[in-house]
Amino acid sequence: MSEKSQLITELESLQQQAEKELAGLNNEDALQKWHTQYLGRSAMVMQIFKRLAEASKEERPLIGQFANQVKDALETQLSQKLETVKQSALQANLKSEQLDVTLPGRKPPRGRLHIQTTVLREIIHIFAEMGFQVFRTTEVESDEFNFELLNIPAYHPARDLWDTFYTTKEGVILRTHTSPGQVRSMRTFHPDPIRVILPGMCYRYEQMDASHEIQFNQVEVLVVGKDITFANMKGTLEEFARRMYGKDVRTRIRPSYFPFTEPSGEMDVECFVCGGEGCSVCSGKGWLEILGCGMVHPVVLKNGGYDPEVYSGFAAGLGIERISMLRYRIDDIRNFWGNDLRFLEQF
Ligand code: DAH
Repeated sequence: MSEKSQLITELESLQQQAEKELAGLNNEDALQKWHTQYLGRSAMVMQIFKRLAEASKEERPLIGQFANQVKDALETQLSQKLETVKQSALQANLKSEQLDVTLPGRKPPRGRLHIQTTVLREIIHIFAEMGFQVFRTTEVESDEFNFELLNIPAYHPARDLWDTFYTTKEGVILRTHTSPGQVRSMRTFHPDPIRVILPGMCYRYEQMDASHEIQFNQVEVLVVGKDITFANMKGTLEEFARRMYGKDVRTRIRPSYFPFTEPSGEMDVECFVCGGEGCSVCSGKGWLEILGCGMVHPVVLKNGGYDPEVYSGFAAGLGIERISMLRYRIDDIRNFWGNDLRFLEQF
């Protein structure tokens, strides 16, 4: 009997002490400590359960029950107190950290045009002033348009010039250049005369390095009509170069080879870094290549629906990344589509 009262008395005074202490606490840390002290594993209330053996068989359930009551009561009071402490901390915070509605707002980040969009628009603008229309053609092409109709049959070694992405659908590829748009626009407009440019993304299966990318922009130039001559081509392309690089820029056209033009050429502009003397940008040549060009091959004219005995035309293909690289001295083509804002934000 005496043992029972002793355990119960211990519990009662423990409860009183715990409650008294709890009343004086006012932050979460202190409550945590209190919890360890009175309800943790080695707290006295918990020890009572172990000491039940000290009591007689009849008394044990009563003491156990009482100990549970004390434990529950303390836990309930703790969670109430915790809520009060949290609330008052929140109130204090709200009071001390007042919202200043007069502060200026945070600017949302604003996008801008990609450098290639800007350069492409500039090129389109120059050709538009010379009377050219933009003809939009497809990025996913057929082998037929990308090669065959441009006078590059399957066995032709010139195919090696264009590393190609093939799709799982036979004959469907990503275009390797904008030239297939030549035949598409001819088939759209014939027998009318044509003066168009065809801008857009091209794709090649390349080992990427500072001067090779698997995607890049080109602008194709196409003029078809009666009595279109090499002189018309030279005049048009030189005028483009003057408007793009300045009125005093010197240009030259070198002979070259493309299966879809005859004769074919490549146009250089005088290196604007060294003025033609030779430097690292132009690899000591004094000239920078900016485009391929030529008179449209009779086979291509025929494939577009124009009689080569009556009509003639010229075509050119400009690599837009190359034009930007030369203008802004960008030394790695991978920058354009790498999506690094530190690069893109400079333009
Ligand atoms: N399509 C050629 C290429 O990507 C570039 C080209 C050369 C286009 C000569 C032309 C041209 O229209 O006449 O390599």
